[in-house]
Amino acid sequence: MARKKFIAGNWKMYKTVAEALSFAEAFKALYVSGPHDVAILAPYTQLAALKDAFAGTGVLVGAQNLHFEAEGAYTGEVSAPMLKELGMDYVIIGHSERRQYFAETDETVNKKIFAALSADILPIVCVGESLPTREAGEASQFVGAQVAAGFAGVGAEDFERITIAYEPIWAIGTGLAATAEQAEDMCAFIRGKVAELFGDAAAEAVRIQYGGSVKPGNATEILTKPDIDGALVGGASLVPADFKAIIDF
Ligand code: PGA
Repeated sequence: MARKKFIAGNWKMYKTVAEALSFAEAFKALYVSGPHDVAILAPYTQLAALKDAFAGTGVLVGAQNLHFEAEGAYTGEVSAPMLKELGMDYVIIGHSERRQYFAETDETVNKKIFAALSADILPIVCVGESLPTREAGEASQFVGAQVAAGFAGVGAEDFERITIAYEPIWAIGTGLAATAEQAEDMCAFIRGKVAELFGDAAAEAVRIQYGGSVKPGNATEILTKPDIDGALVGGASLVPADFKAIIDF
C-alpha cells in the first residue's frame, strides 16, 4: 500500500491561544481536506482549543513532547494518557532542540516512543546530524545509530504507526534547507536501516519526513522524492498561506 504523505507543522514555542485560534480560522478558510495527512504540533496550552477548532476539518493535532511515565512526581511534565484525554493524534519525540537544550537522549526517546504507542498516540521521532558531523563524513553513521538506539525493542508491526523525521540540525531555522538529493539520500538510508533492523515490511510502512527550512518554494522538489513521505515544517507552518502552499506542493 502506498504511504500517505504527511505534512506536519511544528509550532515550537510560538503563539498564544488567541493567536492559535486566529491561525485556525484563517487556515480553515483556505484548507480543504485532501490526499495528505496534515497535523499541527502546538504548545500544550493550545492543544484543547486547537482540537476543538479543527474538529471535522481533517486537520490532526499533536504535542511536541511528553513524559515517558503515565503519572508521577515529575513537576512540569505531561504524560501520554493526559495527551490522549485531549484527543491528541500525534506527538513529536526527540526534536534536536530538546536533545540540545533539555537533555533528551536516545534512551529517553526510546522510552517516550513506548509511552506514546501504548497510549495510541502516533510518534514523530526526530533524528539528524550536526554540521561538524556531516562535514566529517559521519552523518549516516550518526543517524543510523540514533535510529538503532531510539527504536530498540520496538515491534516491527508498530512501524505503520511511526513517523521518522530526518532533520539535519544545520538546516533547522537557518533558511538553508538540505538539497532534495541530500534529503532523499538520508531518508533512503534511514529506510534501509529500518529494513536491516526490523524487516522489509516495517521499512515499507514507516513514514519518513524531511524537516529543516521547508518553504513553499522548495516543497515540491523535496516532497516528490520517493523516500520522502512528508515534511516537518517549523517557521513556515506559522503562516496559514505558507503552510497551505506546502501542503499543495
Ligand atoms: P524550520 O524548523 O522549518 O523552521 O527549519 C523545522 C523543525 O525544527 O521542525
